[in-house]
Amino acid sequence: MISAVGSPVDRRDGPAKVAGEARFAAEYPFPGLAHAALVHATVARARITDIRTERAEAVDGVIAVITHRNAPAMKPPPKQQRMTDLSTLFSPTTVNVLNTDEVHWNGQPVAVVVAETLDAAREAAALVEISYAELPATTDFAAEEPNATPQKGNMLLPTNAKKGDAEAALARAAVSVDERYSTPPLHHNAMEPHATTAVWDGDRVTVHDSTQSIQYCRRHLAMRFDVPLANVRVIAPYVGGGFGAKGSIWPGTVLTVLAARATGRPVRLMLTREGVYRTVGGRTPSTQRVALGADADGRLTTLIHTSVSAVGRTGGNDEPIVAASRHLYDVPNILLRQDVVELDQTPPTFMRAPGEAIGTFALETAVDELAAGLGLDPIELRMRNEPAADPVSGARFAHRMLREAYALGAERFGWPARPPRPGAVRDGRWLVGMGVATAYHPAVMLPANVTVRLSADGTVLVRCGFQEMGMGGATAQAQIAADALGVPLEAVRVEYGDSELPNAPQAGGSVQTASVAASLLEACERIRRSALRLARRANGSPLRGRRPEQVVARNGGLYLADRPDTGETYVTLLTRAGRAHVEAAVGSDDGIGAVAGQVRFMTRFIRDSRRFVRAATGAQFCEVRVDADTGEVRVSRWLGVFDIGRVVNPKLVGSQLRGGIVMGIGMALSEGTLVDPRTGRIMNASLGGYHVPAHADIPPIDVHCLDDPDPTMPLGVVGAGEVSITGVAAAVSNAVYNATGRRVRDLPITMDKLL
Ligand code: MOS
Repeated sequence: MISAVGSPVDRRDGPAKVAGEARFAAEYPFPGLAHAALVHATVARARITDIRTERAEAVDGVIAVITHRNAPAMKPPPKQQRMTDLSTLFSPTTVNVLNTDEVHWNGQPVAVVVAETLDAAREAAALVEISYAELPATTDFAAEEPNATPQKGNMLLPTNAKKGDAEAALARAAVSVDERYSTPPLHHNAMEPHATTAVWDGDRVTVHDSTQSIQYCRRHLAMRFDVPLANVRVIAPYVGGGFGAKGSIWPGTVLTVLAARATGRPVRLMLTREGVYRTVGGRTPSTQRVALGADADGRLTTLIHTSVSAVGRTGGNDEPIVAASRHLYDVPNILLRQDVVELDQTPPTFMRAPGEAIGTFALETAVDELAAGLGLDPIELRMRNEPAADPVSGARFAHRMLREAYALGAERFGWPARPPRPGAVRDGRWLVGMGVATAYHPAVMLPANVTVRLSADGTVLVRCGFQEMGMGGATAQAQIAADALGVPLEAVRVEYGDSELPNAPQAGGSVQTASVAASLLEACERIRRSALRLARRANGSPLRGRRPEQVVARNGGLYLADRPDTGETYVTLLTRAGRAHVEAAVGSDDGIGAVAGQVRFMTRFIRDSRRFVRAATGAQFCEVRVDADTGEVRVSRWLGVFDIGRVVNPKLVGSQLRGGIVMGIGMALSEGTLVDPRTGRIMNASLGGYHVPAHADIPPIDVHCLDDPDPTMPLGVVGAGEVSITGVAAAVSNAVYNATGRRVRDLPITMDKLL
């Protein structure tokens, strides 16, 4: 039997999406559906002294203009995040928006208009007049950066480190670099802007939300609206991209539920693109220092990586910017530190490989600079310093294949043809160069609850409340279940995207595939045992008296491992036993059980993470062509070789990895959120002003996975969502240096910086 895991099968959500049948959050029709639009504050910090809604209310079709003066009361968001209470996690801001006259960022929603049509809602929103008493605001990252204070950090993914005396070793090093790098704020720009449709029925509410976590969304809403958890249902089978922006519960979601409660109508809010910039956080800006020292043979003696990033005064997560620097090089002296400043701005949030995406830009550019200083090939420098164990903790690597990734990549990309001297290759007006960088992202799992039902007709139903934002999660889990139970892929149905289903982790942090697989594999194991129990006592069963270890699941049933012809199908076995199905549930239920179960799971995971370091890694290869006259940079070739453990579906994983590389190229060359330092106002809140790569900017992207199972992860799966953006910007900057001899340490690498 051909195994389903490893096959490039088509994604299950593809046909519905292509045919327009897939329903997204803003596409659910309801009788009497009303439309909402937000009014945004135009100052960074203030109290609202007056808010005049008469002109807005006079617009034909307006149902309500809701402000802090007339909004129903909500419980405030949690002040502190606690690992043991999921309703406190993923709450991005402490502002009780529309239950307060306080403004904490430029763009914060200060009113929501509900109308019969979208046009009326938006027209009226523009007519709400607001007076403010402005308060002093801190909005200039560059000015605040020298006043940064130490970041809190988190126990799951430690960042700071001190080993030996890194500064003293730097002063003594034969060859060294010591440079500053900077990255701008960035925004996610998912194809589907955040959207919510909310319908109350008494004190029960159904919410269609464009979210990466139906579970956290449900818990957050139950807490804010003070209703039992069971009264909130969140449905999100399709999400048009998230990249971290939909991992937290932003004001638009809460205000849609509020507006539906206030008006007694089903309400839909689809943020405008500008609305996403104004109300949803993006990636923090950063300034970083990387200093490296080596002996004359290119053996690293010291590594210093420090960063300053921003959080909002009312929230924002601490990004693990220097985290990858703990794990990449065998260095006797290491100093890693992260500091933050608080700004009166939208709380920054997770954005694909939060931390590592920008941290690897600085680190991996510095490594290239050191290689140039040593006159050494940058891959050779990396290989000379490839550690045998984790450099800071001394723990072993669960899996480490960077040598293989670079060796394969160098051959496949034609790396030996790269001239060591910068500016040496010219093709007409184009200067051509190549660069490499290492990709790194930690592997994390979260507890997932799964039920599996095997029916007497031979079909399998997997139920799990994860969600899809385009990764192919349901397809991958169907493949895993098909192999675990030995049934054809077509026999497996996967239900997901509905909070009525067993709780599962968010689609984020590259955790979902492995987390769900861990529970799914256990459930399938229990099903096999249940099925065998039915057979081993049955007269006439060829499996009579057999033990679980003698039996394998294949060909739609159970067969003896050493006599493949002896056994029977699930259909025969269940029918004889008079059973309609066998079922297994893995994980904990809602409530106290969930909290205890989550804590137990995470305690074990954190303990294991101290014993062995788990991560996805890779080698990014980039070729650029730089216009010698204008400084225009075109990426002309790309190869990423990744170690993401076992590949469940090469087609889906290929898309994931290419997508991350595309985002990384955007970050390297064109993306940047422009914030007016005086007012904290985002100045380019549109796809016209914020430049994501278009098709014409992206060359064919070659990706290759080593496909070697990680022995410490379920099925050997590590997770692939985020590693692919890491290292990308450094590979570009290193290629630009190789092409031109110009080193750009400030992203994005725009033309002006090369002239
Ligand atoms: Mo990701 S930044 O965890 O969606």
